[in-house]
Amino acid sequence: MTAPAPTGSSDAARPRARGDALAVLKLLALAGADHTAVVWTSREVGERIGVSQQAADRYLVALEKQGLLTRAMARRRQRLQLTPAAMAILRAEYRSYHRIFEGSSRVEFSGEVTSGLGEGRYYLSQPGYVVQFSERLGYSPYPGTLNIRVGAVALRKIALVREWTGIRIDGFTTAGRTFGGATCHPARLNGHPSHLILPDRSHYKDVVEFIAADRLRDALPVRDHDSVAVDVEET
Ligand code: CDP
Repeated sequence: MTAPAPTGSSDAARPRARGDALAVLKLLALAGADHTAVVWTSREVGERIGVSQQAADRYLVALEKQGLLTRAMARRRQRLQLTPAAMAILRAEYRSYHRIFEGSSRVEFSGEVTSGLGEGRYYLSQPGYVVQFSERLGYSPYPGTLNIRVGAVALRKIALVREWTGIRIDGFTTAGRTFGGATCHPARLNGHPSHLILPDRSHYKDVVEFIAADRLRDALPVRDHDSVAVDVEET
């Protein structure tokens, strides 16, 4: 098995916060800056994270430039507020700690096999995807996706999975056509190994798609309207 690549090219576009900058985000979130402006001087920020006023000021300017922070001057102090992008970074950090201390999260739900429009085969056959699947999932998927129709409770669980890091499959452009990115999560369908694939843009509301090395309709075996037990694990 090839280990999933730690980064994809799309990661470059996402704001990042490392080390001390992350400490500033954490400090501000603890002070409630996710929902209300916190009024501090750079010196006060510096003292709280153990760096100089100048260093704290640099971090604040950099975080503002990355769209992670809004700053408004209030006399000698600054009104500091975190953006949703900053909270997304802190949530990712939280999930790492959650995994360290509590182990991986998993969600379980069930759904019904359904047929789509046969588009999965077309997408899964694109070399731009196939190469990434082999490298990052460790296998070349059977060309297609198994569609599972789910109810409201499962959809809420899937919304949680969307917050997980997962295994990134990057979008690409070939011959003037753009193919979107997606995130894969290791899953079991009736105990059989597969990956839940969540496209960045999906038109299906109540249908989720799975890929696997083999043809799942034969391997499980299932056909349309059969119920399937799904188990998705955080990577
Ligand atoms: O659009 P639809 O899901 O019906 O078709 P597709 O994604 O093009 O996949 C072709 C066929 O293979 C469908 O019947 C899928 O349910 C099935 N399939 C499967 O059994 N196992 C997979 N790993 C992928 C697709």
